Amino acid sequence: MRGFLLLVHVLGFTLWLGGGIATMVAGVTAKRMGTAERLTAYKIIGAVQRILVAPGAIAVVLSGFILARPYMESGQVPGWLGAMMGAGFLGAIGAVAISVPTAAKLARLEPGPGGQLPEAFPRLRKRQILAASIAGALGLIAMFAVTIGRS
Ligand code: HEM
Repeated sequence: MRGFLLLVHVLGFTLWLGGGIATMVAGVTAKRMGTAERLTAYKIIGAVQRILVAPGAIAVVLSGFILARPYMESGQVPGWLGAMMGAGFLGAIGAVAISVPTAAKLARLEPGPGGQLPEAFPRLRKRQILAASIAGALGLIAMFAVTIGRS
C-alpha cells in the first residue's frame, strides 16, 4: 500500500509541477502571438490546468495525508516532513482554488469587436501569474524539503 501511495504522490507532483512549467512556457511563448492565437493558447493552458494541474495537486495532498498518518499518530513529525506538508498543502490550495479557476476564465475569453484583447485579460493574466508562481514555488519548497532538507 505504501508503494502505491508513493506512486500516486510522485505522479501527482509530476503532473502538478510539470503542468505549471508547461503553463509558464506556453504563456511566455503566446506573448509573441496575435490576439486570436494568443487567446487560443490560453484555451490550451486552461486544459493543462484542469486536466493535469488540478488532479495532480489533489492527488499529492490526498496521498500525502494518508502517508503522513503514522507520523501524526506517533506525534513525531520531522522538520523536513512538516515543511513538505505545510508548503505542499498551501501550494496545492493556491493551485486548485486560484490558479485553475483563473485559467478557466482566461480560456473562455474571446477577442473584442475590434479584434483587441478583452478588457479582463490583463487582470486575469496578472492574477494567474501571481497565483501560479506562488503555488509552484511552494511546491518546489516541498521538493527541496524532502530531498536536500532530509539528507
Ligand atoms: C509538491 C509538493 C510535494 C512534493 C514535491 C513531495 C515530494 C515527496 C517525495 C519525493 C516523497 C518520497 C520521499 C521518500 O520516500 O524518500 C514524499 C513522501 C511523502 N510525502 Fe510528500 N511531497 C509533496 C507534498 C506533500 C504533502 C502536501 C504531504 C502531506 C499533506 C506530503 C506527505 C508525504 C509523506 C507523509 C511522505 C512519506 C514520507 C516517508 O515516510 O518517508 N507530501 N513526498
